[in-house]
Amino acid sequence: MRQKFFVLGIAGLIISLTIFFYFKIGLVLSVAIFILLLIGFANSIQQKHSILRNFPVFGYFRYFFEMIAPGIQQYFIERSTDGKPFSRNQRTLAYQRAKNIDSTSPFGTQLNLNRSSYEGIKHSIFPTTVNEELPRVLVGGPDCKQPYSASLLNISAMSFGSLSENAIMALNKGALNGNFYHNTGEGGLTEFHLQGGDVTWQIGTGYFGCRDDRGGFDGGRFAEKANLPEVKMIEIKLSQGAKPGHGGVLPAAKNTAQIAKIRGVQPNITILSPPGHSAFSDTKGLIEFIANLRQLSNGKPIGFKLCIGKTSEFEAICQEMIMQNCFPDFITVDGAEGGTGAAPLEFADGVGMPFEPALIFVNKTLVRFGIRHKMRVICSGKVISGYSILRAVALGADMCNSARGFMFSLGCIQALRCNTNECPTGVATQNKMVVKGLVVTDKAERVFYFHKNTLHAANELLAAAGKKSFAEIDIDIFMRGDEFAHLSDLYFPDNLKSVTIH
Ligand SMILES: Cc1cc2nc3c(=O)[nH]c(=O)nc-3n(C[C@H](O)[C@H](O)[C@H](O)COP(=O)(O)O)c2cc1C
Repeated sequence: MRQKFFVLGIAGLIISLTIFFYFKIGLVLSVAIFILLLIGFANSIQQKHSILRNFPVFGYFRYFFEMIAPGIQQYFIERSTDGKPFSRNQRTLAYQRAKNIDSTSPFGTQLNLNRSSYEGIKHSIFPTTVNEELPRVLVGGPDCKQPYSASLLNISAMSFGSLSENAIMALNKGALNGNFYHNTGEGGLTEFHLQGGDVTWQIGTGYFGCRDDRGGFDGGRFAEKANLPEVKMIEIKLSQGAKPGHGGVLPAAKNTAQIAKIRGVQPNITILSPPGHSAFSDTKGLIEFIANLRQLSNGKPIGFKLCIGKTSEFEAICQEMIMQNCFPDFITVDGAEGGTGAAPLEFADGVGMPFEPALIFVNKTLVRFGIRHKMRVICSGKVISGYSILRAVALGADMCNSARGFMFSLGCIQALRCNTNECPTGVATQNKMVVKGLVVTDKAERVFYFHKNTLHAANELLAAAGKKSFAEIDIDIFMRGDEFAHLSDLYFPDNLKSVTIH
């Protein structure tokens, strides 16, 4: 192909020059062919890209099509029920709720309901009145001195670094207006999180914001921030669904001088948080760490977040809680289908337990150990609608967090570029010019409405099921597939034995 290119190119150049020589036209064409020949020559001798070496100019089409393919796919090919991780229908619902406009859909369902994996709510012929008040849940076990009344739906962990400062400020202001909490993510508690909204401060393995000079946990620095009035709860991050067993990843392109300063790291290099904590290395240490944080924060609710891997390890944690008579105030269960700013594909696709079995396992294990009443179970994993909230509660959650749902409310278009610093909407980038496009006051309002309208939809479903409160929800309100079997028959076989601790 190279030879053909040069033969045709040189021939074209000679012809166009001849035409120019005799008729004084075609100079631009000659210059263009000459430039293409130069580019082609450079490509044919470079050794990095085989396509460009073999097709010195036409090879660029491959890169061009590759670049525009996701956009073409999303705008022209994707059907309403397609699109991953979230379908167009799901995204549209989130946008409509965030904009506080009509979110009804016309002409009936587009889903095939006659499939074995179909799930639906068994509505009652005696529906209750829809509650206009949005549901709340009190978090704080026996050792908690500052219990927190949380909303049923809150903003899941997303750091400043993975999200822009405007995105973080809009989330926090939305949380302030809607009276729900905003989880900081593991990147630390920054001025952008302190816009007046309630905050859950997440402590990851990098201990950003409470880190000593060697990268370990610093109790003094922790206490300073933990006692701020905005900080309502503290969450120790053990793992997250998108990359369990892998530390946080801040790509070099997003590690600006500002973020590096906040985190106490070098700018412009990829920051990998360690996969595990240095403050503890076993279940005993974890429970002692919880007790330590509780003391340092003067009794604020302390919990941990994890994606379930080895179930025996979670059981060991439960045993240790009982042995030490020390319990977290909440446990956040993240499904393996969870999102992230950046993760190795192997971890995103193939590590960790998905939302549904994980939530059932955690709930049932806590019940089995007789300690379920001592703590709240929070869940995250594609909770984006009123239906998914009800489903989560039925599977055993007390409360829900949403990350990507709130990203949609900020204007995220699922461009799938969070890891490149090229997010076009200003949500997941540190490019100041693009970030300016995200207007904090406008998006804070959308965050507020997404929360309000989604919870209102959950209230409507609750009423349709004939229930008065979320505490009445259990798995029996769901039916599944052709078999129309009770989910409880599938998941809660009657063979659970009580556990004796030695
Ligand atoms: C951009 C982005 C950044 C995230 N950063 C964190 C983080 O710092 N800590 C954490 O525990 N989880 C993080 N997550 C995971 C979310 O908190 C959440 O657990 C997961 O995305 C599942 O919720 P979702 O399906 O509502 O998105 C992040 C997710 C996204 C999309």
